[in-house]
Amino acid sequence: MKTDSLSEILIAYNLRAVLYFNSIDSTNKYARENNLPSGSLIIAAEQTKGRGRFDRNWESEKGSNILLTIVKSIRTENPALINFYASYIVYKTLTDLFTAGDNGFALKWPNDILLDGRKICGILTELKNIKTDRKKFYIGIGINVNQLKFSESIRNKSTSLVKHFNRKSDISDLIARIIKNFCENIKLAFDYSSLTEIWRKAAKLEGKRVEFRLNDTTEAHSGVITGIKDDGAIEIESDTLVGVRKKSVYYSGEISFI
Ligand code: BTN
Repeated sequence: MKTDSLSEILIAYNLRAVLYFNSIDSTNKYARENNLPSGSLIIAAEQTKGRGRFDRNWESEKGSNILLTIVKSIRTENPALINFYASYIVYKTLTDLFTAGDNGFALKWPNDILLDGRKICGILTELKNIKTDRKKFYIGIGINVNQLKFSESIRNKSTSLVKHFNRKSDISDLIARIIKNFCENIKLAFDYSSLTEIWRKAAKLEGKRVEFRLNDTTEAHSGVITGIKDDGAIEIESDTLVGVRKKSVYYSGEISFI
């Protein structure tokens, strides 16, 4: 089923502007540096300095994938939940469109989407006015859509829709669907307990064995996920020496399934 075009969606949801770039350093950086107003959408065919979490590089072949930033002012005390909102919206859009079977799409805390255990979507949310109630979010979303080949360093960790489903997707149609879902469900972004409940049910992370690290320079330790809290934190029961178990709660970091 074809969705409305992006321009119809922009009008329907009162979005300010959509900016398209053939090549740009980073859609997030552009939106931040130019202080673009809430309701702006920046889309690029290529990023020369695409950024990921932990200051990593975000690789994407020109014209093959989704690279966008949504600028949105939101009144919230818990900015981390915007990541959960954005990842749930992308997850829902993809799972509604594609049937992936048992080894299909999965949400990975805090805001990655995996397909067949490999990364297909990354989200980098940055914000302004951190101390005030109404915060301006720059929600950067990268989705691997039509890219077939990945560089050596991420080949085993990344995948794309075309690699998995063997067919190319219409990038602007996918963007339109994501923006439509994002705007239609925005109330969920303010409703913490419903949002985390929905995210938790979709992610099914409880009981999974993982390795956890706070960032790229800290040591990893293994344990079992015992829950995702209403404020988005992850609770991990770590393996310790002589069978003593210890539960820890983390607000940021990275897990990998083992
Ligand atoms: C991650 O998984 O580490 C997050 C990756 C986020 C990548 C997107 S692509 C569009 C936007 N612009 C950027 O420079 N980064 C985000």
